Amino acid sequence: MSYEGRWTTVAVKVEDGIAWVTLNRPEKRNAMSPTLNREMCEVLDAVEQDPEAGVLVLTGAGESWTAGMDLKEYFRETDAGPEVLQEKIRREASEWQWKRLRMYAKPTIAMVNGWCFGGGFSPLVACDLAICADEATFGLSEINWGIPPGNLVSKAMADTVGHRQALYYIMTGKTFDGRKAAEMGLVNESVPLAQLREATVELAQNLLEKNPVVMRAAKIGFKRCRELTWEQNEDYLYAKLDQSTLRDPERGREKGMKQFLDDKSIKPGLQAYRR
Ligand code: COA
Repeated sequence: MSYEGRWTTVAVKVEDGIAWVTLNRPEKRNAMSPTLNREMCEVLDAVEQDPEAGVLVLTGAGESWTAGMDLKEYFRETDAGPEVLQEKIRREASEWQWKRLRMYAKPTIAMVNGWCFGGGFSPLVACDLAICADEATFGLSEINWGIPPGNLVSKAMADTVGHRQALYYIMTGKTFDGRKAAEMGLVNESVPLAQLREATVELAQNLLEKNPVVMRAAKIGFKRCRELTWEQNEDYLYAKLDQSTLRDPERGREKGMKQFLDDKSIKPGLQAYRR
């Protein structure tokens, strides 16, 4: 499927199973405007249904991943409009930045190539995995321009990094680099910018080898775990397991057991079953 020229603020290209979704307002450091938010909802819908896309990578054009919410279009111009319009503008931002992305039907990787500020932390943490450049700069800059972190930014921090680290950056507005982001557990790995794409492709290829139905059940099962009690989790995760077994068109569970128990051709502790 060709996505050429379909959106004005986002570029999409699918190559070897990987959907490269690029926030594409480099002249505005990929700040997330209402138009970008609306277009990203459409992009996520399109890529989810694209049979050629197995993994989604979210990145940014130029020297920025995203400079966060667009201060002019998302805040100032919306403030000047009808009060109720703010409901729609906020809903569309939340819709892609965490609601759809967090429970996306396909695996997602945030590939952070540069600046990542404020509102950018919501999609960063909503992606399943994240790799960044050592040279990337992160910051919860809200306090520097007069607001507390809104939307799901603080929740995203609370879910990934420790209490002291989160409050330190929320309260000081200081920046940190990619290595620090990895050390804090905000991203999985930080590599030199020159190796960022290669490292992302390697990770994406690992995910592409896996059974997509089982992958979805595994990642969504884990994310829901945080919100349920132990008893609810036991029920829910068994239901998820049964669901993935029943819905899996390639009968992965049977293949995996056969290859290990009968054929003795794989060791699941060391490698995935052959699809
Ligand atoms: N919202 C709206 N516009 C933004 C923006 C944002 N979050 N971030 C950058 N821009 C715009 C600038 O206004 C400028 O527009 P102009 O060319 O029309 O003047 C353009 O993008 C380039 O920005 P500039 O500041 O010149 O780039 P830089 O490379 O020197 O600095 C940043 C990059 C990201 C450090 C700096 O732009 C910045 O601090 N942005 C705000 C980050 C922030 O606080 N985000 C949190 C929002 S919740």
